[in-house]
Amino acid sequence: MTRPILVAGNWKMHLLADEADALAIEVALAAGELTGPDVAVFPSATLIGTVRAALDESRVTLGAQACHEAAKGAHTGETSAAMVADAGCTAMLAGHSERRAAGATDEQVGLRVRAGLDAGLRVIACLGEQLADREAEATNAVLDRQLTAILAEIDESDLASLDLAYEPVWAIGTGRTATPEIASEAHRHLRARMVEKFGESGNEPRILYGGSVKPANVSELLAAPGVGGVLVGGASLDGASFRALIEAAHTGRGS
Ligand code: PGA
Repeated sequence: MTRPILVAGNWKMHLLADEADALAIEVALAAGELTGPDVAVFPSATLIGTVRAALDESRVTLGAQACHEAAKGAHTGETSAAMVADAGCTAMLAGHSERRAAGATDEQVGLRVRAGLDAGLRVIACLGEQLADREAEATNAVLDRQLTAILAEIDESDLASLDLAYEPVWAIGTGRTATPEIASEAHRHLRARMVEKFGESGNEPRILYGGSVKPANVSELLAAPGVGGVLVGGASLDGASFRALIEAAHTGRGS
């Protein structure tokens, strides 16, 4: 069965508790009224408790932005997948380009996907090329390298808890959005690799698009073949804007 469109807000290192509380309440209200798409928020680790309380009894999924690959240990400043699950998260991002830029290797991303799945979390594994990769026509090679490291850690039974997010790094936070054609092309490539590895089950995970998604462009991106949802940074930090994203997904598809 095809999963509903997912509208996911990555709040990055933004918001203090009062702001996160207010925004989560607005998102929960919008999700309650616009029931077509799945909705998820990814606040920073310190806000998980606050957002969990604000989302209580709503249908919004609460996720963490990252975790360490180890189950526990001497890793000052890090958070394990079991810890974020224990704090109330049911989902997690892995391999966001900002974590990769901070040093996460492909192999670590694979291990973090594994750690999240082992902790019972739904994992959105992020991948995408740099501008230089695209200019060198190496986009597919980079996606293959990143995906291979993720696939090395999972098997078919994990697909029920996995989604992917294609986020071209040159489009993140830059206001420069990939065209629907560029998004579709990358999604088609990733899907082909998934099906190559898993057969029919490789169609199960959604492939989200991320990178400067906003109310003005979300409908055309969601209409692009192969786009199963959006992972949104900047435009998810404002209640009215987040509602507009959910509304577009609700009226466009899946409602
Ligand atoms: P952006 O971020 O929407 O602000 O470009 C997207 C992301 O990093 O997930």
